Amino acid sequence: MCGIVGAIAGRDVVPMLTEGLKRLEYRGYDSAGIAVLNGAIRRVRRVGRVAEMESAVRAEDLKGIVGIAHTRWATHGGVTEPNAHPHMSGDQVAVVHNGIIENHEEQRARLKALGYEFESQTDTEVVAHLIHHYFRETRDLFAATRRAVADLHGAYALGVVALDEPHVMTGARMGCPLVIGLGDGENYLASDVSAVIAQTRRVMYLEDGDVAALERGRVRVVDRAGCPVERREHLSELSADAVDLGPYRHYMQKEIHEQPRAIADTIEGVVDGGVDIDGLFGAGATALFRDAEAVLILASGTSFYAGLVARHWIEAIAAVPCGVELGHEYRYRETIPNPRQLVVTISQSGETLDTMEALKRAKALGHDRTLSICNVRESAIPRASRLAFYTRAGAEIGVASTKAFTTQLVALFTLTMALAKARGKLSAGGESDLIEQLRFVPGSVQHALNLEPQVQAWAERFAVRDHALFLGRGVHYPIALEGALKLKEISYIHAEAYPAGELKHGPLALVDAAMPVVVIAPNDALLEKVKSNMQEVRARGGEIYVFADLDSHFAPSEGVHVIRTPRHAGWLSPIVHAIPVQLLAYHTALRRGTDVDKPRNLAKAVTVE
Ligand code: M6R
Repeated sequence: MCGIVGAIAGRDVVPMLTEGLKRLEYRGYDSAGIAVLNGAIRRVRRVGRVAEMESAVRAEDLKGIVGIAHTRWATHGGVTEPNAHPHMSGDQVAVVHNGIIENHEEQRARLKALGYEFESQTDTEVVAHLIHHYFRETRDLFAATRRAVADLHGAYALGVVALDEPHVMTGARMGCPLVIGLGDGENYLASDVSAVIAQTRRVMYLEDGDVAALERGRVRVVDRAGCPVERREHLSELSADAVDLGPYRHYMQKEIHEQPRAIADTIEGVVDGGVDIDGLFGAGATALFRDAEAVLILASGTSFYAGLVARHWIEAIAAVPCGVELGHEYRYRETIPNPRQLVVTISQSGETLDTMEALKRAKALGHDRTLSICNVRESAIPRASRLAFYTRAGAEIGVASTKAFTTQLVALFTLTMALAKARGKLSAGGESDLIEQLRFVPGSVQHALNLEPQVQAWAERFAVRDHALFLGRGVHYPIALEGALKLKEISYIHAEAYPAGELKHGPLALVDAAMPVVVIAPNDALLEKVKSNMQEVRARGGEIYVFADLDSHFAPSEGVHVIRTPRHAGWLSPIVHAIPVQLLAYHTALRRGTDVDKPRNLAKAVTVE
């Protein structure tokens, strides 16, 4: 977690660092800080949001042409100003850090023995002192950073400045993302492109083990062996507008409404060109999919729920056994590896540590057929996978995942078609039929978005409740899970999801007039079963809120409220039903006055265990 940004320029960098930090707040937002060189290292840190730091920066009239800044999600040490970054070694070196230094205790003891004093409880402070220690010996910040990182174990992205070498800023990457932005006579460092996109689209992604030295007119990079390397320059596709709120009040609201476009962009290659397996998933995918004896999906949170939906598709359409497991559970249990299994990781950010470690574990067990479904190019998980499919959701900034989820679903449906085709389970007619279903999804999602005023009216009622239940069956049970997660994540209402058939085995005891029950009721083979489960709720006085397909002829009655979603979307119905549960969570949270985009205790990219 945490976001870092740095700049070295011939003009005051404070405004660009502050703006960059705001773009990175999704990564953590419990404290923020900045340090600039201006004859001395001047530092401002505040507990709270970047806006609080910004006011302090203004009050102190902070200016400088080289600087680093940080927004924190606390891991080591509480949310206090002394624990906020940048951390300094005396008045000489300042460091910002994203990640966790695993051997910080050992390094702390060593540095204390060398006479260093510590002011914070963080793991990061050892990095500042270590670099200072080596800088005293080398008088060269680049060399000192390289020597310091050689002593570190763990994960880091670093930005460093030193008072005695004001024309250089260094960066280092191991396990956490770090991108260099290339400007005209100025250069930047950041956790992701969004933080520098207002300055430049020219970027260079550092690789694990890289250490970089940035000056105004040049960038030097060495790899983990200490050899100079050239990292390829990319032109980022992200536009400055893509990270602006535009007419919306929150990023989550914007991202919910972007779904028709995000889905259309993600499926463009398939609806235009058919299922060209190697073209979509990478060279060699056809052969890998053809012999896959099983599929194992590894993911976390909302991405895990996308995997649960995909299991239904993959088993029913491609006729391949499919397991879905949370990354943090998989990595610590004994499994029976099958090298002919296709291991699919799903991650919006491509950084989630639990998913990354699960992938490493799978590879260590001999699985080399790996595919990543990811929204962020060049991120760690797809880079560690043999094949990759990138969703084209664009930057997702709200902590609650919305457009990433629905684009993951269309990507997984595309994977299902590819598996079915490679294994001879899909006729040409069958392929066109499924592509046709896919083609309708953006329109159906738009139709579902038009239900917003009705969902908003329901949200008024949910906002005054303490609990809620979500029910679904079959391929829609994961949508109930997703609805409950969205609601608890941003409105802090306790919400649980169950497969509707499970109600009578226990959760029914919770149902009374104070428990709103949301039911996902598409017009599919399980509709009559769902209706019976609803009777069980009504008989106990529970108030029911049903999302029912237009063609299911559901009528409202006493205690049963109905919103009609678009016509049944066949296999792709879960995508359409995801929209109203997102809207319900959003409007309920809005009504309760919570911070929708930055819910308490959470962060967007979870890079800790
Ligand atoms: O970046 P990832 O898709 O790997 O993230 C996984 C989860 O941390 C994420 O989906 C989380 O559950 C979201 N906040 C849900 O809205």
